[in-house]
Amino acid sequence: MRDIVLIKGDGIGPEITDSVTEILAAAKADINWIPALAGMEAYEKSGNPLPDETVELIDKHKIALKGPLTTPVGSGFRSINVALRQRFDLYSNIRPARTLPGVPTHFGSVDMVTFRENTQGMYIGRERWVDEEQNQAESIAIVSRDASERIIRAAFEYAIKHDRKKVTLVHKANILKYTTGLFLKVGQEVSKDYPDIAFNDMIVDNTAMQMVIRPEIFDIIVTTNLFGDILSDLASGLVGGLGVTGSANMGDQHAMFEAVHGSAPDIAGQGKANPTALLLSALMMLEHIGETEKAEMIRKALYRTLLDKNVITGDLGGDGSTRIFTKALIGNMR
Ligand code: NAI
Ligand code: MG
Repeated sequence: MRDIVLIKGDGIGPEITDSVTEILAAAKADINWIPALAGMEAYEKSGNPLPDETVELIDKHKIALKGPLTTPVGSGFRSINVALRQRFDLYSNIRPARTLPGVPTHFGSVDMVTFRENTQGMYIGRERWVDEEQNQAESIAIVSRDASERIIRAAFEYAIKHDRKKVTLVHKANILKYTTGLFLKVGQEVSKDYPDIAFNDMIVDNTAMQMVIRPEIFDIIVTTNLFGDILSDLASGLVGGLGVTGSANMGDQHAMFEAVHGSAPDIAGQGKANPTALLLSALMMLEHIGETEKAEMIRKALYRTLLDKNVITGDLGGDGSTRIFTKALIGNMR
């Protein structure tokens, strides 16, 4: 029995987490859920959107599945997601993007995984005004050898574990010669330790174009924070959007799995939410704890279910609901 912290989250969070825990229970996944609060519910109860108990539970049990969290407006709290990433040093943001049956897209066969460095780069928001009149601004990007090495190694290790063939390092080292140049240099060095995995590098703007022209050439992408932010959403768009994309935030000790979409307040409580993205995140979690066969069994049931217009949710053009979809998926398990 594996203890895993469950944060249901806000808005549609409880509906989609209930769906996912029901599906995992039906698959007999050996999980003991440890409930924890974060987000609006926690804020209303304790005045703190990220209570210490929740942080302690994640610290103790190491793995969490998290529904979307509404960031309370005007509380001065920046973002719980960012706080959790920093607290547990979750330096790899991992997002698979895979063509799903029954989900219409503009593109052919896509099966790629983006590794985004989560702690540095241009994304850290270290900015200032140069002049008092605020007519000029500057922003600092940080890239270090250690932080580059650990994310690049994580991408190669994932390639080995998941039987993938190629890692593409994405950069802009022709212009940003120090920061992304260092990232590229470290990648070239680290790649020598992985002779069985092909390695190439690509400049970010060309990568964006290649991803829409020939998405099938990509297997694993590893890149710095801001490029990863943009390219991972582009990859999601190739396969049908944020509603069908799971993700993991991983460090050396802790891992947090979550859908990439938000709390969807416009449809919360109406039973319409699509649990697919959170389910895909939960399948990454099952693989992480070694329950690969159960993950594969659920994935096959998901793929069968997505083909049935009567049961898929409205965001995918179907006539179903969260409940109908969940029941149908469980019925499709074999
Ligand atoms: P959103 O992703 O919640 O919603 C955007 C649109 O997509 C809405 O029309 C919504 O109904 C739809 N949608 C999203 N997920 C869906 C699902 N599973 N099934 C069916 N339709 C779905 O983005 P929005 O509105 O910008 O943000 C709402 C709140 O979520 C904000 O408080 C934001 O801070 C938070 N948020 C939290 C994230 C997280 O916890 N990781 C990520 C993004 C936003
Ligand atoms: Mg993003």
